Amino acid sequence: MTLMHPGTARETLEISSVIGGELLAGGTTATSTNPAELEDVVANVRFGDAETFLRACTVAAEAQKRWAATPAPVRGQVIANMAELFRHNKRALAELVTREIGKPIAEALGEVQEVIDTSEFFLSEGRRLYGMTVPSEMSDKQLFTFRNPVGVAAIITAGNFPVAVPSWYIVPALLCGNAVVWKPADYSPACAHAMCEVMWHAGVPADVLNLVQVHGATASEGLELALDRGLVHKVGFTGSTEVGRRLGELCGRHLQTPCLELGGKNPLVVMPDANLELAVEGALFSGFGTGGQRCTSLGTAIVHESVHDEFLSKFVAAVEGAAIGDPTTDVLYGPLLDERFLRSFERDHLGLIRDHHSVHGSSDVGRITGSKPRAGFVGGDPERGIFCHPTIVSGVRVDDELANTETFGPLVGVAKFADWEEAMALANGHGYGLSSAIYTNDPRSAFRFRAQVSAGMVSVNNSTSGAEAHLPFGGNGKSGNGARQSGVWVLDQFTRWQSMNWDYAGKLQKAQMDVAEITADLDFRL
Ligand code: UN1
Repeated sequence: MTLMHPGTARETLEISSVIGGELLAGGTTATSTNPAELEDVVANVRFGDAETFLRACTVAAEAQKRWAATPAPVRGQVIANMAELFRHNKRALAELVTREIGKPIAEALGEVQEVIDTSEFFLSEGRRLYGMTVPSEMSDKQLFTFRNPVGVAAIITAGNFPVAVPSWYIVPALLCGNAVVWKPADYSPACAHAMCEVMWHAGVPADVLNLVQVHGATASEGLELALDRGLVHKVGFTGSTEVGRRLGELCGRHLQTPCLELGGKNPLVVMPDANLELAVEGALFSGFGTGGQRCTSLGTAIVHESVHDEFLSKFVAAVEGAAIGDPTTDVLYGPLLDERFLRSFERDHLGLIRDHHSVHGSSDVGRITGSKPRAGFVGGDPERGIFCHPTIVSGVRVDDELANTETFGPLVGVAKFADWEEAMALANGHGYGLSSAIYTNDPRSAFRFRAQVSAGMVSVNNSTSGAEAHLPFGGNGKSGNGARQSGVWVLDQFTRWQSMNWDYAGKLQKAQMDVAEITADLDFRL
């Protein structure tokens, strides 16, 4: 099926929901624009309503039975085709990611590589999906375990990783025999469409992967309807803590545990013995890569007082000298993902700066404009896009709102600590627990940090961003409900264990009651 080609030039794509292979007409229209150049309309999009979502779930529920009956190694072959097709389309898809959400091209290529890595990890899983044979406590009886698909997975994702994070859900969900209804972010509809095109061309039946272009609130409404009708059996959500909480409540009413991957306030602790150059490099990438709009982005650098001033001056120099601008070139970061993030960044996040803080990193804060220029800005007129100055805020204290609020954008806090307890209070006090980092050469500090930090992911001498695609990814507290994606661990999200016993004794053998008795003398001592 060829519905459209991904399009990387200046053409405007026409996009709508695709349910069972049919492009849906109707709905409200909107545009998806290039945040580096707002006049460039990437796509005209038709957004559906709650009924659109419900319809996709109905189609998926019907298709799932057939897909689950397809042998797992055959489903694995579809994933293998996907890996190959994503590899061949790597640059085209990365260019579309850069065009639609402004991620620098090097990072966008890395993002598509993450999709390839995920597909390559799971392509052989179709030949494994192991269950066990387990001994029974009685003779002439055998026990087994099987992984069963869950059913229909409704996947709702953010736009900061418009293809990699969706692949973490969709690839294993399909491999395990589930059908998928995917609702991407409403500011990355073209990336989502291109991604589905690749998957459909790889052999995923059109009714097994349904793409629903609806706004967030509409998706919640549609999801509620679908859950009420028993059409959705697993929800996967990556996005804000606030929305995650509401989806968790909704799923809980249906006795379901969603897979929630929420925000973060990721700490990076710098110990007195750290290699400061390395720590600065890590802080620069994790603080400002993707414009600080990763859920793994650095929140607060927590620096020992003995190295604080040196770290801060090196960090400030690196940020002042960093190239910011046109994401098709080699820059630290490009524009914000979408205009909505400019509003929240300028109003809510920069608004957390207080008198006891000091601000560094650029000649101004907020949007880069003609009257608030950034020295060395890469590209033409910054006002054609939504670019922001990088901001470092030092003097952050443990009970500052800035130490406890996720700031989605190019803003990093720096705090000073004197003792370990103080460092851990800063690292954990906010209640998030996604990613974390410590820079040290002392194994005692590294392992102590690992044991005490609330985060689901810990880096030693590496940044808070950049998790590899085959380790468990996920958080605790306000960052998630303990669900883990990626690697073998995600299989527990998209399958349910079924246990079976087979008695061939020809008589009823009662567990716990008809078990052979052993005689033993437990008073025996040597
Ligand atoms: C996200 O921001 O939701 O670890 C995912 C990283 C990337 C994935 C981030 N591999 O930064």
